[in-house]
Amino acid sequence: MKESRVILVYFHLVLLKKVFCDLPTCNRIPLGIKIDPLPPDNRFELEIEGHPEKYIPEREYRVRLYSRSNDSTFIAFTIAAKEDSVYNEKNPRRPIPLKQGKIYIETSDGVNSQECDNTVMQSDVTPKRDVNVTWLAPPKGNRCVTLYALVAIKDGVWYNYDGPLIKKICEDDRQKVDLQPPENDDCNVCEEARYQLTLENLWLHNTHPLTFPENASARYGDLVGAVHSKEYSLWKYGGYASEGLQTLAEQGNTTGVEGEIQNKVSLFYDWVR
Ligand SMILES: *[C@@H]1O[C@H](CO)[C@@H](O)[C@H](O)[C@H]1NC(C)=O
Ligand SMILES: *[C@@H]1O[C@H](CO)[C@@H](O)[C@H](O)[C@H]1NC(C)=O
Ligand SMILES: *[C@@H]1O[C@H](CO)[C@@H](O)[C@H](O)[C@H]1NC(C)=O
Ligand SMILES: *[C@@H]1O[C@H](CO)[C@@H](O)[C@H](O)[C@H]1NC(C)=O
Repeated sequence: MKESRVILVYFHLVLLKKVFCDLPTCNRIPLGIKIDPLPPDNRFELEIEGHPEKYIPEREYRVRLYSRSNDSTFIAFTIAAKEDSVYNEKNPRRPIPLKQGKIYIETSDGVNSQECDNTVMQSDVTPKRDVNVTWLAPPKGNRCVTLYALVAIKDGVWYNYDGPLIKKICEDDRQKVDLQPPENDDCNVCEEARYQLTLENLWLHNTHPLTFPENASARYGDLVGAVHSKEYSLWKYGGYASEGLQTLAEQGNTTGVEGEIQNKVSLFYDWVR
């Protein structure tokens, strides 16, 4: 009886050892170079398209690693993301890791690493000037994520993640309705569409007695609408208002805006007044 128990323990150990040995090891250093990296300089940069200050949970972002100078190329790279962590009350020495979302590539310019989780690496060692990957931001409540890149410019010569090769971005915790929706650049109209807009005036003395302006020049602006191509934009998120738009906002006078739109007549299709 005693003997069989000993044998059982032995098998168990052998099995554990095998499992560990089969685990692939994750080495994120490009080409597994064993020499120390070059000191950081600003030759390469990792950039999140649109330079967002914060990320919106579960939105996809394009992340680009590129050479800032015309004559620098790289042959190998690693792009990955590191998650944030929160304090662990049960074991303060082991913070609880949050999620970092997903980093992946859909073109043949790189491969999704088999050994390292959530990591994109080069598919070949031809010199390149840039590579684009996708980052799917994690769900709500995952705080900040650090996106980073390691770059090899030739065999044995590489940069560690540092300076412009690292971007930390935190969650945008504004409500969804307060956020600019993503722009649809691929809007191909192939059928007639009809829209009906109704403007209902709810700003009345009885509905808003406390804030209703007594000054008669405070009023609703005149209504103006135009159908235009996507080359024209009335305003840009984060940009400055045109003079006409400023006048419309401050005085409710549409004359300026109408003029501005009419000047771009090739982009303009129809009026609604
Ligand atoms: C890089 O090349 C582009 C076009 O080839 C040129 O316009 C630009 O000035 C160059 N930049 C530098 C830093 O040499
Ligand atoms: C990456 O995206 C940029 C534009 O954001 C584009 O100019 C460049 O050609 C892309 N690079 C590759 C390798 O597809
Ligand atoms: C009413 O508003 C206009 C424009 O903002 C301003 O010029 C004017 O002085 C105001 N009148 C009164 C009585 O507050
Ligand atoms: C709007 O502005 C234009 C030009 O500044 C002016 O001629 C017009 O009278 C204004 N309209 C109203 C309703 O104030």
